[in-house]
Amino acid sequence: MTNDLYAVVGNPISHSKSPRIHSLFASQTGEPVEYTAIQAPLNGFAGTVRQFFARGGKGLNVTVPFKEQAWQLAEHRTERAQKAGAANTLYANSEGLLTADNTDGQGLVTDLDVNHGVDLAGRNILVLGAGGAVRGVLGPLLAARPGALTIANRTVAKAEALVTLFAPEAGETRLSACGFEAPTTPFDLIINGTSASLQGDLPPLSPTVIDPRTVVYDMMYALTTTTFNQWALDHGAQRVYDGLGMLVEQAAESFRVWRGVAPDTAPVIAALRDD
Ligand code: ATR
Repeated sequence: MTNDLYAVVGNPISHSKSPRIHSLFASQTGEPVEYTAIQAPLNGFAGTVRQFFARGGKGLNVTVPFKEQAWQLAEHRTERAQKAGAANTLYANSEGLLTADNTDGQGLVTDLDVNHGVDLAGRNILVLGAGGAVRGVLGPLLAARPGALTIANRTVAKAEALVTLFAPEAGETRLSACGFEAPTTPFDLIINGTSASLQGDLPPLSPTVIDPRTVVYDMMYALTTTTFNQWALDHGAQRVYDGLGMLVEQAAESFRVWRGVAPDTAPVIAALRDD
């Protein structure tokens, strides 16, 4: 039997963990999946996607810097992709239309809820950042019905724009925007969705947003404790998590969308930690 072809597209792509994650899913589930990494030229994303599907490819994951382009290129979008404004998953739907999905937010919520036992319902959440990464996860976070969700960003207008965009999804959740300096009282959960650490920076938050019960989640992951999580530990946080679980969970959700089979993520997360 020949394998069905899948790939992740990005630029750069050589460090992507997606081929390893999906090949572990394939061997675990017995699905006939072959998964590779493709580096698209910065000005050649659409051509790379068309060529992949024209050659019989079944599905793509999309990563930096092409998630918005993937969303635009699609002929059909799932509801969660529509709101996210970006896509990390592409496939042809039953009518043959290039379909965009976004599994990042589901990946984050599953990692928090299932892997770390953090129930979001009624909780007071602080989200840092208002770029594409945060927009991609707000829908699933709000669907978990937190009591309050505050979006803090360096450029406050971008946080305010996200509040306007997601107000229809907020339901009973108090949804608001502010700058980094404004919050001063402890939160149940703080999620770092900024890319500040890529420049070795920290958002200028008051340490009083943390108390010993605060759960801190950095959507980034690294071999050692991330800069943001180290800051949180230094100020008394006792539970800090990085985004490796989210990475594996978004992959698992893509795999489920493509194959109709949900892989067991725990052994895959453990294998990646050991790499
Ligand atoms: P991504 O796809 O990773 O979300 P993005 O859309 O460029 O990338 O958004 C980056 C986010 O990190 C933004 O919230 C950005 O803040 P601004 O909206 O004010 O630009 C935030 N960010 C990037 N560098 C930062 C820094 N050094 N300090 C604080 N926030 C930073």
